[in-house]
Parts: sequence; structure tokens; C-alpha cells
Amino acid sequence: MYKDTFRVLSKRLLKHISKEDRKHYLDQISTKLYESEWWKNSEVIAMTIAREIELSTLPIIEHGWKQGKQIVVPKCKPESHEMNFYIFTNQHELENVYLDLYEPKEDPNKLVKPSDIDLMVVPGLLFDHQGYRIGYGGGYYDRYLSKYHQSKISLAMEQQVVKHVPHDEYDLPVDAVITEKKIY
Ligand SMILES: Nc1ncnc2c1ncn2[C@@H]1O[C@H](COP(=O)(O)OP(=O)(O)OP(=O)(O)O)[C@@H](O)[C@H]1O
Ligand SMILES: [Mg+2]
Repeated sequence: MYKDTFRVLSKRLLKHISKEDRKHYLDQISTKLYESEWWKNSEVIAMTIAREIELSTLPIIEHGWKQGKQIVVPKCKPESHEMNFYIFTNQHELENVYLDLYEPKEDPNKLVKPSDIDLMVVPGLLFDHQGYRIGYGGGYYDRYLSKYHQSKISLAMEQQVVKHVPHDEYDLPVDAVITEKKIY
């Protein structure tokens, strides 16, 4: 499928960014995030646990904890391609699901509803100027975003932003993409 070609190319591009560069970009992007109204006005923030090739998210999560924010992270259900978010308070609560994928345990006491979340930081491989996104291909976020109505943004390196990415009728754009250079 046409989106898959973009996925292969984007992953290859991400793999070739050095650890040092990635760290440098993360510092600039997270500073922009913390200064934004999205971050400042949000108490409950949904984040993923980044994989090796992505911008690391643990420093942002820890910063949020320090500021008293509640961080929630997703657990995917591969049978239905749905996911749920769970309150995340401690790194040791995660389990290694598959290769470098970490998720929370399914604790019903920690489950949150879409309407409980103030800000969703949506992951992706490639983004465009309108906020359309090519993700990992499961449709997990597209499904969740169809029942989620608060703020949604993505964090990306400038190299992951292009003028236009293909999208289908079920693809929902994010409100903004924050890169080390600007906010789209
Ligand atoms: N709201 C929805 N309801 C049902 N199926 C959906 C919905 N949104 C997307 N899908 C299905 O999910 C599949 C993957 O979608 P897509 O290729 O856009 O993935 P993606 O955006 O990269 O993944 P993700 O959302 O997990 O980041 C598609 O085949 C599509 O049919
Ligand atoms: Mg999609």
C-alpha cells in the first residue's frame, strides 16, 4: 500500500539519526512543548513510551511528573486494533510486550476515559503541514481519535515533516506538529 512505502523510508531515515543529534533535537522540541499553552493548560497528558528509533519520551514524562501532571500511556489490543490509556506513575509499572515496545499492565483502577485526557501527544513516522500523519500502520490512534475531542499534537524532527502526506477519510490530523525549528 502507498502508505507503507512512506513507512519504510521514514524508518530508514530515523535509524540513521545519531543518538547525539536525537538528544539535541529532543531538548529543543521539549523546550517548545513546555512553553506552549497545550502543555501549560493540561493536567492529564497522554504520551507513548518511545521506541529506540523515536524521540525519547521518558524525559518529557519525568518533567511532567515533576510539575504535578498526570501522565497516561496506552496499551494496545492487537485483536481489535483498539487501545486504552492507563495512569502511569512509575517506570517499573511497564512490561516489555514485544521487542522494544513497553506498555502498562491492564489495571482497571488506572484506566482513563478519552474525555479524561486534556492533551494527547500522538506518535507518528511522517507528518505534513496540515497535521496529517503516517503512523505505524495499526490504525490505533485513528480509532482512538475518533472518540477523543480535546487537544492533540505531535512532536517530530524537521526531517519528519513534508508538505503533504497521503491520507484516507478515517485519518484525523493533529492540531499542531512541534519540531526543533517551528510549530506547524
Ligand atoms: N476510525 C476507524 N475505524 C475503523 N478502522 C479504522 C479507523 N481508522 C483507521 N482504521 C483502519 O486502520 C488501518 C490503519 O490505518 P492507517 O494506515 O492510517 O494507520 P496509521 O495512522 O499509521 O496507524 P496509527 O493510527 O496506529 O498511528 C486502516 O486499514 C483503516 O481501515
Ligand atoms: Mg492513519
